[in-house]
Amino acid sequence: MVSQWITTLEVAIRVLMLTRTDAKARGLADLPPVASDSLLQLIALCDADSRPEKIDVGVGVFRDGAGNTPILKVMKEAEQRLVDTQVTKAYLGSAGDKKFAELLRPIVLGEHASDDRIAGLQTPGGCGALRLGFELIATINPAARVLVGTPTWPNHPPIINSVRLEIVEYPYYERGQAAIRFEDMLQALSRGAPGDVALLHGCCHNPTGADLDPVQWAEVADVCRERGLLPLVDIAYQGFGRGLDEDAAGLRGILSQCEEVIVAQSCDKNFSCYRDRVGCLFVKTGSVEATRTAMGHVFQRAREMWSMPPDHGAAAVHIILEDPELRARWLVELAGMRDRINSVRQRIAAADPRLGFIGRQFGMFSMLPLSKEQVLKLREDDAIYMADSGRFNVVGMSDAQIDRFIAAVVGALDA
Ligand SMILES: Cc1ncc(COP(=O)(O)O)c(C=O)c1O
Repeated sequence: MVSQWITTLEVAIRVLMLTRTDAKARGLADLPPVASDSLLQLIALCDADSRPEKIDVGVGVFRDGAGNTPILKVMKEAEQRLVDTQVTKAYLGSAGDKKFAELLRPIVLGEHASDDRIAGLQTPGGCGALRLGFELIATINPAARVLVGTPTWPNHPPIINSVRLEIVEYPYYERGQAAIRFEDMLQALSRGAPGDVALLHGCCHNPTGADLDPVQWAEVADVCRERGLLPLVDIAYQGFGRGLDEDAAGLRGILSQCEEVIVAQSCDKNFSCYRDRVGCLFVKTGSVEATRTAMGHVFQRAREMWSMPPDHGAAAVHIILEDPELRARWLVELAGMRDRINSVRQRIAAADPRLGFIGRQFGMFSMLPLSKEQVLKLREDDAIYMADSGRFNVVGMSDAQIDRFIAAVVGALDA
């Protein structure tokens, strides 16, 4: 009876809407312009600069000493094998390449790899994993608030907004002192309500390079457990900081302490396959059954958004991880990228005491203590492109450009 009334009411409302003469028809031409992502704008500005000496430390990709982002040698070989041996491109299903997700488990989850309360599925990059993780949270608990330390990666807020979860910001980093505001972080987390989400950077914090130390990770894990928060760990740069296991130690501590955890992982950086969109979402709950049910929702959301993830990149990573010889060579190439990041950091840090903090941080990004005006002046006078916030990619420049970069930055600090 009630459902009949509701249907009648719905029909009446629709008829009313259709017969309203004051309702203006809205077409695609009525759409307001979208403010473009500031990092994408920066890429366009740098592309348009014709000065040959320009330095692009805005974009977030690894560059080698010659200033290139080469395809890893093991990746080329795996791709060739894939071309030679793949016999079908039939659909794989919403989970994508299941073996790929399995092979990643020990790398990401370590001692938790055999925990069957944790399930994973392939996603289109780390962004796909983040979106899917937040979709799952919004499905369970639309009232959940997401506790986000600032500054954070500029794509975090739009992804969270897209699932209509509320963001609560807290200060994570004090730029002038190059220090994590750990007390503020703990206080913000301890004000969280059960079910609220703690968004955490697994390693190589983007944009600051300031990672929690092991003691701080343990404290964060304790607060998450005590307050009943749901940690969502975004791990996009594993292996770029200290090493694969070292970079995942904080995440693994969280998995030890917390019953429910979501992990958004990316292979796009550590396999240098950015455009191929390779990532994985892991979901942990308190029981195998609850995880199975949660994954049912995850598959449903994935089906609605992209149906199935792209195969090529994950298939190549699968080949690398499954073959002991290719895997060993990947580890060497990964160590090569990490060593360059850390040696450029040391070189910049040694140039001036005001830049010393860069040598104590990890990953591709750090934030220079420069005002927006100083950043714009570097852009105009020296053709050095970095984000307005002073965030720069330490391996955005070639070896030959490092001295000029340091001199310009020190000049800006002195001015
Ligand atoms: C902190 C962070 N998380 C996630 C991602 C997503 O990476 P992907 O390119 O795999 O989507 C990035 C990429 O820049 C990132 O910096």
